[in-house]
This record gives sequence, structure tokens and C-alpha cells, in this order.
Amino acid sequence: MHIVKTVESLCRSVKKIKSQNKTIGFVPTMGALHDGHCSLIRKSRRENDIVVISIFVNPSQFGPKEDFKAYPRPEKKDILLAKKEKVDIIFYPSEKVMYPTGFLTNVHVDEITDRLCGATRPGHFRGVTTVVGKLLNIVTPDALYLGQKDAQQVVVLKRMIADLNFPVAVKVCPIIREPDGLAMSSRNKYLTPRQREGATVLFKSLKDARKRALAGEYNAANILRRMRTAIRKHTPGKIDYIVCVDAHSLIPLKQLKGRVMVVLAVKFGQTRLIDNIIFYI
Ligand code: PAF
Repeated sequence: MHIVKTVESLCRSVKKIKSQNKTIGFVPTMGALHDGHCSLIRKSRRENDIVVISIFVNPSQFGPKEDFKAYPRPEKKDILLAKKEKVDIIFYPSEKVMYPTGFLTNVHVDEITDRLCGATRPGHFRGVTTVVGKLLNIVTPDALYLGQKDAQQVVVLKRMIADLNFPVAVKVCPIIREPDGLAMSSRNKYLTPRQREGATVLFKSLKDARKRALAGEYNAANILRRMRTAIRKHTPGKIDYIVCVDAHSLIPLKQLKGRVMVVLAVKFGQTRLIDNIIFYI
């Protein structure tokens, strides 16, 4: 496994890989790797000759009051795990490499970045699309692997890739959960034991919403009311949003129809957890 820190040396490696007609699967990460990342790496491993991951805690997707400084950076552990998962190349750039002095260009996707997480995290998706756009240009992968947990990120990045004609296939992998149902996230380690216990209600309430919808409750307001009540009863968490949306467009639904996604964000102290479930009506 190679750890590559500069754009130039990554481009040299990519050139060599392409000259051998090998395919590249790419998993962008901010490190603090967990089983969710491993599932993306394994799928990429199965489907490609070479697996490249990036580890870069991207400052431009954090708001001024968010956890950029506190975000976990377990470098040694990440490298060991990547080795174990047979990653071929880790692209591990510094901030200076990604945003050198004079950097002025950003990628912005309209409309779908204003709602859900975008409403309370202004500028977040601009940071994500800018860094992923740069990474795609540097790595030039055949396939990009993303996790369904970050549902809005998936929709936004797919939009960017289609609109800007990035020649890459997008593969979305299912949410990986802890045994009690909590979606895996690098931020779960911030939770206190009480918050961690309460957080299990998120997936329970999503499953309950799906069950009720599949049993014929198509009124979104009724579904959401019941979810809010359960979350308030069982957790100290503060609901940021819970919405039923069309899974392709992220447009809120009053009546459930088609490919429905119930998506939520709940804050436990400073820790904001997101989760979602998709089903067909
Ligand atoms: O999902 C993440 O970890 C990040 O948003 C990503 C895609 C690596 C961009 O920094």
C-alpha cells in the first residue's frame, strides 16, 4: 500500500495504473475509518483492479462553530485499517496541497443544497462538492463509492457529476449499523452513554415510519408526528429536521408516493446525527 501526499505523485501513480488498463475505484473519506467505510472499500475492491481512498478532513465543509478542530484524526489506526482492507493507495493530502495560497474556485449545486442539512449548515455542500470535484479530477476513478447514510450528499454529488460531466460511475452502498441499529458514523464517539442509548430511537422511529407507510398510512404529517413524539420521549436529542421526501429530488412530500425517503437530523449536545430509510409506495 502506498501513502501519497502530493497531487503530482498521485497523478504519476494514476498514469501508471491507466497505462496498464486497470480500473480505479475511489472512496473519499475524512478518516476515522469504521465499518461503514470498510463496506465501501470492500465493494470497490470487488469491482475494480485498484482501490484508492482519500483521507482529508476538509475544512471548507465545516461551519465556523462546527467540529473541524475536534474531528477525530486517528492517523495510525486508519492506515492500519486501510492496509488490512487491501487499499492500494491512500491519498493523504495536507490543507496546503488541497487549498494552496490563492485558491479561489468553488463548485456550487443550486436548490437541493439549501434544504435539509443545507438549511442549518450553510456552505457545507459547497465545501463537499468543491473537494470531491477536486478529488475526482486528481484521482480520475472509474467508480466513486458513497454511503447512503449521507443521503443528501449522495443526491448533491450525483447532480454535480451529471451536470459537470465527470466521467465516473457512482455506486451507493447501504448504511452500516451498530448491532442496536445506530448508523455508523465517525461522530458517534462524541456521544455520552445517555445520548448513545437514546440515539437508538432514531432507527427505531424510521423503521416504524416505514412499517406504517407500507401498511397504508400515506399522510406524511401523521407519520412525522409519531416520529417526533417517539424521539422526544426517548432521547435528550433536539430534532433539527424530520421530513418525508422524494428520494430522487429531495422535494418534501405531503402524501407518500413513489421512492420515498424519510430523513432526519437530531442534535445530541453538539453532536448532530443523521439517518434515513428508503421504501417504495
Ligand atoms: O462523507 C464524507 O466523509 C465527506 O463529506 C467527503 C465525501 C469525504 C468529502 O469531504
